[in-house]
Order: sequence, then structure tokens, then C-alpha cells
Amino acid sequence: MYVVLVAAIVAGLATTLLGAGVIGDEHNYRATVSPWFRSVFTLQPDIDAMAAAPPSFQLHTLIGMLLFAIWPFTRLVHAFTAPIGYLFRPYIVYRSRSVGARSRPPRHGWDGPGS
Ligand code: HEM
Repeated sequence: MYVVLVAAIVAGLATTLLGAGVIGDEHNYRATVSPWFRSVFTLQPDIDAMAAAPPSFQLHTLIGMLLFAIWPFTRLVHAFTAPIGYLFRPYIVYRSRSVGARSRPPRHGWDGPGS
């Protein structure tokens, strides 16, 4: 997951460098990637719009879609959780083990009062 996440971020930064005119010609992704992205949401993918985008944008989008695909099977799924159970779960009680359960004698300085 981290590999795909970093790849998506690096490819995204690359699109800005390569596509925004910093290196080479500027590409107006609002006329290609953006209409394609909207078309996906209407379940009528505009393939021609994405095909007209430079490869760096296509690669970045591909890696992004891969990240979305593996999302539910990775720890990123926490993004879709609402920790409502924390409000109602019982307190977690932390206390030291009883003397009988100790696997080794207490270290010097940790003796209880009167012992
Ligand atoms: C279908 C999914 C995605 C599409 C269509 C998409 C599209 C784009 C486009 C068009 C740009 C260029 C924006 C610009 O130059 O102003 C961009 C930049 C970027 N994207 Fe994505 N992206 C997608 C998913 C992701 C994901 C999943 C990540 C990271 C988790 C990501 C991280 C970035 C980053 C870091 C940049 C550079 C932003 C900057 O330089 O200011 N993208 N993306």
C-alpha cells in the first residue's frame, strides 16, 4: 500500500512538473482528465477524453485508481470508519498483575509498602 501511495504522490507531482509547463509544454488537464473524471461518476466513461491526455496524467490516474482498488484491503480502510464504538465501550482497566501471577520477582525499588 505504501508503495502505491508514494507512487501516486510522486506521479502526481510529476504531472504538475511535466504537465503544468514547468518542463515542456503545458497541458490543460481541465479539458481531458477532468471531463473523464466526471464521466466516470455518471457511469459513462469518456475514454476519448482520457486518451487525449499526456501519458504522465494517464499513469498518475492509473496508479490512483489502483490505490482506490486496493483501499478496502489495506489499513487505509480506517478512513471510512467512524469510531462511534469508542463512546460506548467499557473502560479498559490497567493494573499490575497480582504477586502470585508474577513470572519474576519485582525489581528493586518497585516493592509495595510493607513488603
Ligand atoms: C483517479 C484518480 C486521480 C486523478 C484523475 C488525479 C488527477 C490529477 C491531476 C490532473 C493532477 C495535476 C493537478 C495540477 O497540476 O494542478 C494531479 C496532481 C496530484 N495528484 Fe492526483 N489524481 C488522482 C488520484 C490521486 C491520488 C490517489 C493521490 C495520492 C494519494 C494523488 C496525488 C496527487 C499529487 C500529490 C499531485 C500533485 C499536486 C501538486 O503538485 O500541487 N492523486 N492529480
